[in-house]
Amino acid sequence: MDKKEFIRRRKRLMDIVDNGGIVIQPTAPERVRNRDVFYPFRPDSDFYYLTGFPEPEAVLVLVPDRPQGECLLFCREKDAEAETWHGRRAGLEGACELYGADDAFPISDLDDILPGLLENKDRIYYTMGRYQDFDQRLVGWLNRVSSKGRAGVHAPDQFNSLGHYLHEMRLYKSRDEIKTMRRAAQIAAHAHRRAMQVCRPGMHEFQIEAELLHGFMQEGARAPAYPSIVGGGANSCILHYTENNALLRDGDLLLIDAGAEFDSYASDITRTFPINGRFSPEQRAIYEIVLEAQLAAIDKVRPGNLWNDPHQAALEVIAKGLIDVGILKGRWRTLLKDEAYRPYYMHRTGHWLGMDVHDVGDYKIGDEWRTLEPGMVTTVEPGLYLSLSIKGLAKRWWNIGIRIEDDVLVTADGHEILSAGAPKTVAEIEHTMQQACAA
Ligand code: GLY
Ligand code: MN
Ligand code: MN
Repeated sequence: MDKKEFIRRRKRLMDIVDNGGIVIQPTAPERVRNRDVFYPFRPDSDFYYLTGFPEPEAVLVLVPDRPQGECLLFCREKDAEAETWHGRRAGLEGACELYGADDAFPISDLDDILPGLLENKDRIYYTMGRYQDFDQRLVGWLNRVSSKGRAGVHAPDQFNSLGHYLHEMRLYKSRDEIKTMRRAAQIAAHAHRRAMQVCRPGMHEFQIEAELLHGFMQEGARAPAYPSIVGGGANSCILHYTENNALLRDGDLLLIDAGAEFDSYASDITRTFPINGRFSPEQRAIYEIVLEAQLAAIDKVRPGNLWNDPHQAALEVIAKGLIDVGILKGRWRTLLKDEAYRPYYMHRTGHWLGMDVHDVGDYKIGDEWRTLEPGMVTTVEPGLYLSLSIKGLAKRWWNIGIRIEDDVLVTADGHEILSAGAPKTVAEIEHTMQQACAA
């Protein structure tokens, strides 16, 4: 993403914060996996949204109207020996030249410099509770400033939730963000198609997971956006199944929920298909209900509709469908009111999508569901999970777990399905799988 995009975001935030306010946003800490091995580092999403700065040990400080420069980045200094061991650093110069900071300071000087920046400010914009070590340090800096009261210095006495402002910005995706998300979804869609093509009875779930990761990496998405869910048979009925170590059996379904993270943006796609390439009549009957529910929900994704409208549309189709196949008995309105679908469909139909797979942004304004607006991106992901543990469920339905999930952008006149490249109808899926058999 272009440096100008990050500068624009910081300007917008500073317009809100205004004179007298100060923004403090650290990146994520590095985490030890075991002994000298760290988990792959991922910057804090809010920090990265404002800076594009990928290194650990960094803090952004925004001070609107500070004459010597408004955007300050604390980061690691250049160090030839450390860089030989651990990789390149932007250094202080790079922080300004490459990332557009007005001023850069060594991260080791944070304790000396930050209290001075807090002096005589009225309001702090910070996310309390995310990084407890940093919270403690901030309290310490504030105490230092407060202790200078007799010298005529005042400490900020208003604490504002930075997330409240920043997450509202992140909810509306810019043109550049949409381009990146389109690509993240396209990469994941290719990988899902590939998974359908290589899947055979007798393989293990982890072999399909390997295909997905291979596909992501080959196209430049260096990590999945979340641990891939690859569940065959009974495992398709476990919503967040990630063991991915079972054998794939002829006659079972395979549910794959896998998305790529590309340039810090997530995609989140679920497809379900028969391991042997042909849906059984029961699998197909349930699949068609979930698909109809998903299409009805996607149809509701347009500006002016409420956040909850897609969910309601999906629930209606699911209730009617379960009556049609004889799993539920009664009138659909009553079943909906009584939530009789819950043993089979127990999650909501979507969530915001962006830098985080379950992205930031409020779903309600006050007590009311929020109105959909252009630039918002949501998933649409109804499912039915016919677990053998459901009391009274006829055996022919057992272990049919189906979810269909797409990433949908609200546009000025409707929507765009970012993940449309992944085969979805019964005919498309069977055709995709057959093509592979013929090859
Ligand atoms: N992959 C997590 C979700 O669909 O919400
Ligand atoms: Mn999702
Ligand atoms: Mn998902």
